[in-house]
Formats: sequence, C-alpha cells, structure tokens
Amino acid sequence: MAQEGKLEKIKENVWKLEKDGNRFSVKRYQSSSTAMKVKHVHDELHSASFLHIVPVMYEEDRLLFIQPWLDGAKAVNFKKRADRTDSLAALHALHATQAQIDWHASPYLHPYPLTMKWEDRIVRFREISGACEAYIGKGQVDEILFYALNAISIVKRTYQNPLNGTLLHGDVVHHNILRDATGVIRFIDFDLACTGPAGTEIALWIHRVLPQIDYDIDFLFDEQPSLKKLDSASKTLLLFPNELLREWLHFFTLSPAARERQAKQLIPFTESALSHWPKLWYDVERINI
Ligand SMILES: Nc1ncnc2c1ncn2[C@@H]1O[C@H](COP(=O)(O)OP(=O)(O)OP(=O)(O)O)[C@@H](O)[C@H]1O
Ligand SMILES: [Mg+2]
Repeated sequence: MAQEGKLEKIKENVWKLEKDGNRFSVKRYQSSSTAMKVKHVHDELHSASFLHIVPVMYEEDRLLFIQPWLDGAKAVNFKKRADRTDSLAALHALHATQAQIDWHASPYLHPYPLTMKWEDRIVRFREISGACEAYIGKGQVDEILFYALNAISIVKRTYQNPLNGTLLHGDVVHHNILRDATGVIRFIDFDLACTGPAGTEIALWIHRVLPQIDYDIDFLFDEQPSLKKLDSASKTLLLFPNELLREWLHFFTLSPAARERQAKQLIPFTESALSHWPKLWYDVERINI
C-alpha cells in the first residue's frame, strides 16, 4: 500500500502518504518486536472500543504501521487548561482498560524499567557533565546531579512495579497526544508502551506539565482533583529532575548548529527549573505527608 501514492517525509522513519485522495501516516519500524507490540496494543484497545487511539490499517509488511492521517489535529499544549484536563482524562481512561484487558498476559509488553532507566540517565549525564559545564557552569551541573542522586535514592526505597499495574503509553510527551479536528484526544506513538503502575505514568505526565505552569504543584493539584489520589511512591517520582537530564542528554546528540540554536532555550529552561526545585522538593514532601 505504502509503495504507491505520494509520500511526504515527516521524520526519519515517518511519512505522510497521499493516495486516492486519502491521507495516511506511515511509520517504518526497525524491529519487528516493537511493530508487533504496537499493533497488538492497538488491536486490544480497538476491541475494548477505546476512544483515544487512531485506527490501524491492514498492512502486509510487518515493519510498516499505517494509520489514517488526522487532518487538522494539533499536539496538546500543556500551558492550556483544557489540554491538561483532557489529556489527563484520556490517560486515566487508558489506564482503566486493565478492567477489560489483562495487559500483563501480553507477551509483547514488559514492565516499565523506571529505576534502571533513571539510573542509566544519571550515568550518561555524568559522562557529559564536563561538556555541559561549558554551557551552564559547574554549579548548575552539580545541582542537577545532587537532585537526581537524592531523588533516585528515595525512589529506589519506595518504588515498586507491582503485577497489578496496567498498560502505560510510555512516552506522554505533548506531541504524542493529539487533539483531532473534532476535539477528541488521540494517543499516537505507542513504541514505548509497557506495563506498570498507573501512578508512574501520571507522575511522568506531571513532569511534562510542570515546566509549563511554573512548577506550581499546588495549582495543578487544585486544578486536577484526580491527582490528589496519587499514591505517595508516585508523588516521590516528582523529585527527579527527569526533563533536565533528558534534555541535556538529547542536546549532545544534536549537530553543532542545532546545539547553538537549542542552547538558547535549554539554558534558561535549566535556570528556571533549578530555581524552582527547592520549593518543588518542599511541596512534594508536604503533599506526601
Ligand atoms: N495519524 C497521524 N495523524 C496526524 N499526525 C500524525 C499521525 N501520525 C504521526 N503524526 C505526526 O508525526 C509525528 C511523528 O510521529 P510519531 O510520534 O509516531 O514518530 P516518532 O518518530 O516516534 O516521534 P518521537 O520519537 O519524536 O515521539 C507526530 O508527532 C505527529 O505530529
Ligand atoms: Mg512521537
């Protein structure tokens, strides 16, 4: 199917296909296990009549994944209240599918390796810390490491990945959550889907939202009452400077020209995050009592 028609490249492995007046997204996977996992997740969610996905088109090539292109869809903007509210409701709905689907029985899904992932991020951040100092100075690099190490030691004491979890999308960044032209939230890109506690993914969603709302946890918890039910192990995850580590690690994968452009945003982003972290730490401990 993807061979005929007009292809427009969106990313390295994603295209927009126009064929017979219809538009599709076409993604090519490197690994058949990821492709099979993503198809399996969509099949199960479709059987459960889950609203917040995009249908999957049948395709013979097992490495290709084709969906109708959502014309007029926009990535959510976590600065907007309606987008925070609706994306969180869709995420809760995704996690609630465990009532209909036994996700742990799926051979394609593995438990979310949170502590391993975060420890690995710290190791890799240490490796780039010298290069990072050239942009933000030793003081800020040390601060990031200080918060990361303190947070991971608490997380390792409190975090468990129990077998009574659910499906996690695995990558709740704003551009994987689209609002379609009719206003419905649609999750795309289940490449990192896995199983785990719903609270873990809610905490990861909060990590993404906090920089957009001046790290004001009290404001967010008042605005989104469902967050008050978050268990304390999940709230503890908020202490980890996840976005800072991820962004700086990504930064050093860029070309020199792209780095210069990105530095203009990432340096103030880092300063802002670090200036809010002491209060954030205090707030998390307070809401965790
Ligand atoms: N069905 C669709 N309708 C509209 N836009 C789409 C659709 N599928 C993908 N896109 C657009 O293409 C982009 C890339 O798709 P996708 O997220 O699947 O690729 P990716 O390489 O995994 O991205 P990343 O790793 O950056 O999250 C999306 O962020 C979205 O803007
Ligand atoms: Mg994506």
